[in-house]
This record gives sequence, C-alpha cells and structure tokens, in this order.
Amino acid sequence: MKKGYVDVVLGLQWGDEGKGRIVHYLSRKYSLIVRFQGGANAGHTVYVRGKKNVLHLLPTGILHNNTKVAIAPGVALDPEVLAREIEFLEQEGIEVKGRYFIDLRTPIVFPFHKKEDGLFEQEGGVGSTKRGIAPCYRDVYARFAVRAGDILDKRHFENALNRQIDFNNMLLEHFNEPKLNKDEIFAWFEKYKWTFEDALGDVSLMLKDEIEKGGAVLMEGAQGTLLDIFYGTYPYVTSSHTIAGGVLSSAGLGPFHVRRVYGVFKSYLTRVGKGPFPTELDDDIGETLRRVGNEYGATTGRKRRVGWLDLPLLRYAIWINGVTHPVMTKLDVLDGFKEVKAAISYNLDGKIYETLSPTTYFLEKATPLYETFGNFYGIKAAKTRDEFSDGVKRYLNKIEDYIGLKIYKISKGKEDRLI
Ligand code: IMO
Ligand code: MG
Repeated sequence: MKKGYVDVVLGLQWGDEGKGRIVHYLSRKYSLIVRFQGGANAGHTVYVRGKKNVLHLLPTGILHNNTKVAIAPGVALDPEVLAREIEFLEQEGIEVKGRYFIDLRTPIVFPFHKKEDGLFEQEGGVGSTKRGIAPCYRDVYARFAVRAGDILDKRHFENALNRQIDFNNMLLEHFNEPKLNKDEIFAWFEKYKWTFEDALGDVSLMLKDEIEKGGAVLMEGAQGTLLDIFYGTYPYVTSSHTIAGGVLSSAGLGPFHVRRVYGVFKSYLTRVGKGPFPTELDDDIGETLRRVGNEYGATTGRKRRVGWLDLPLLRYAIWINGVTHPVMTKLDVLDGFKEVKAAISYNLDGKIYETLSPTTYFLEKATPLYETFGNFYGIKAAKTRDEFSDGVKRYLNKIEDYIGLKIYKISKGKEDRLI
C-alpha cells in the first residue's frame, strides 16, 4: 500500500516571508492544503498571471481549482472574513463551495473579540492586527469559546454563546464599555453561519483518509517562528503555535507522517508591530528596502519595519522547526546594493553569542555584530546560482554554512521561476 505524507510550509521570521508565494509554487503536488493556526491576521499575497490575490483565512491552495482545502482547529475563524473571501473568489471565477472543509472544533472570532483587541491596543498592546486573535484564543484556553461544530446541537450552542457573552461582558465592564446585546450577537452569527455549516468535518480524520489513500497534504503556516506564542519574542507575538510542533497539535496529526518542512525566509528581515528588532534600519537604506520590497502590510496596510538578515535568529528558527528545506524569498530586492549586511553574532556585556534564546530582554540589551557582503548585482537576470555576482554567492554560502543546510530554492520575483 502506498502511504501518503504531509509537508509543511512555515515562516522563519516575523511573518511576511512570502509563504503564500511558496505554497502557490508547491501547491500543484498536493491533494489537500490545510491552514492549521492563526486567523485573519495573516495576509498571503499570491500573483497569478499578473493579478494580485490576498487571502487571509482560506489556504492559498484554493487558487488551484483541483485542490481541496481545510481549516484545522488551531485556526481562529472569523466567518465574516470568510464570507468576504468566498464572495471574492467566486467573482474571480474560482469554485469554492464543496472544496473547503472546516473542523468542528474551530473556535469562532466574534465582533466583540475585535473590539476588545482594539481596546487592549489603546491601552498599550503589542501592535496587533486588531483581528480579534488574542481575545479569541484567550476564550479557547479559558474554556469559554464557541466552536464551529457547536451549531450541531442547538441547546448546547445557545448555552455556550450565552456563557461566552457573559464572560466577555466582565472584560468590557473593565473598559467602561456598554454591555453586549445578546440578540445582535446571535443575529450576527445566524447571518454568517452559512460559511461553515455545510463545510463542517473532522480535519484529523480527513488527514487519516488522505494519507491512507496515498495522498499528499500541505500544511500552510501563517505568521512566523518569532511570533510563536511560546518560542517567539514574547509578549510581542501572536497567540497561536506558528512552529512545526503546532502542526501536530493544531491539526491532529502524529509526527511520523511529516516528510518535509519548508522554512521560508526573506533575504532581509521585516517586522510589523512592536517588539525588539536588533538589525532594524532606520536610515535611507531601510527606506530603500521598504520601497523596493514593497514592505507594507497585506492585512493592515501598515509600514513594515525593515532590517538586515539575522543569522543567529535564523538558525534558531531552523532548529525549532526541524526545517529540511530552507527557501529564500525576495533576493531580487537586494539587486544593485553596494553593501549588504547580516548579523552573525551578538555581544552582551563582552560575551559573544551565536546561539541564543531570543527573549525580548536579551534582544533589547545585546548588540548584533555584522559581516558585510559587497556588490550585489545581476540578481534579477540570473537563471542559475552560478550567474550571481561574487558578493551574492558569498552571502548565500555564508547563510548555508551558518544554518548547516543547503538553500532548497530561491525566489527573486513575484511570478519568476524559483532557482
Ligand atoms: P502573515 O501570515 C506579519 C503580528 C502583528 C503584531 C503581532 C500580534 O501574513 O505572515 P495579532 O493580530 O496576531 O494579535 O498581532 O503579530 N502579525 C503579523 N505580522 N505577518 C503576519 O501574518 C502577522 N500576523 C500577526 O503585526 O505584531
Ligand atoms: Mg502579513
């Protein structure tokens, strides 16, 4: 019997690594593509024949008409965003109904979650996307969440939503906000439940079927390793498990089915929102990187913070995820740079660190030490790695030496062939 397998695509930085682009490139090979964590905070941009598509909730695999897609319980599901996404795709002529599945256990993001997210941001916050992500996961862990499959039992659902509203009212009272109107919330839910009621299923059992019949499954990560709730730069993180370990618990899968872990990283580094960023560039070089790389958020339109690649952080991310196939994106953005730098270690109180725990306090105190690489040209025109200029070759070799893996593919354009 031919056994199927699961591959994973995830981000190795602070999100926006170009995961959507890589999933799209790989997606032909898979019969099922699954989002396993995060919610509408993600913005996965894919160009198909010159046209830009941005997906927030559905896996980007939906853009291929013959792939099934699924949303696993680790996702925070906003049915209002899902409704807009389905309508958008159908207008584009992409068949959606019958091709997407949503796990029974997936927690619902309500409008009051988004409101609370905004209120916490006003009080300081982390620079969130205000998509209700942290409040939704908070309710899950407090055991007050409504989950998609709750609609299968009317009485159970009504009790659950009433309890969740009561719980959230306590918080809103703290912010001196008016009490939630239960009827309005029930009506909102009624309005959008069509988005999942015909799509409900058990994603873990779907994986079982798919693997048993020899299928190939791709797990599409959102956000990035340094935004992981446990292993990222806490508290400046998102609230889900963005790392490879998250695939297993969030989608209901044993470890032995995973074949490859594609780790996606940009040739430089960006971050949106607050939190430490030691290699950040506040100067003209940073401005150029932002402009050339079009580093503006796909979800919120915010200016992304930009900086040089950070090799100690990259090596950490490679380890945490057990990456087998590193993929570099946006190398073309560095075309024409006379000098490119990469952090190769950190200095804290005279001690040099190459391996480190990227806690917020360490990254705030330590100083990155750089290596400089000269003359980056001919990147866009190159058809193979041999055609890169010496500076680029030295940069790639340094990265590979540092992470101990060969870079599997390099992307250098929106729709170019990866090399
Ligand atoms: P993709 O999938 C970049 C960041 C936010 C904020 C922090 C917490 O496109 O790579 P949240 O709304 O999740 O509570 O915000 O995480 N963030 C992202 N940054 N890309 C993303 O997704 C992100 N999703 C969340 O900017 O700093
Ligand atoms: Mg993004």
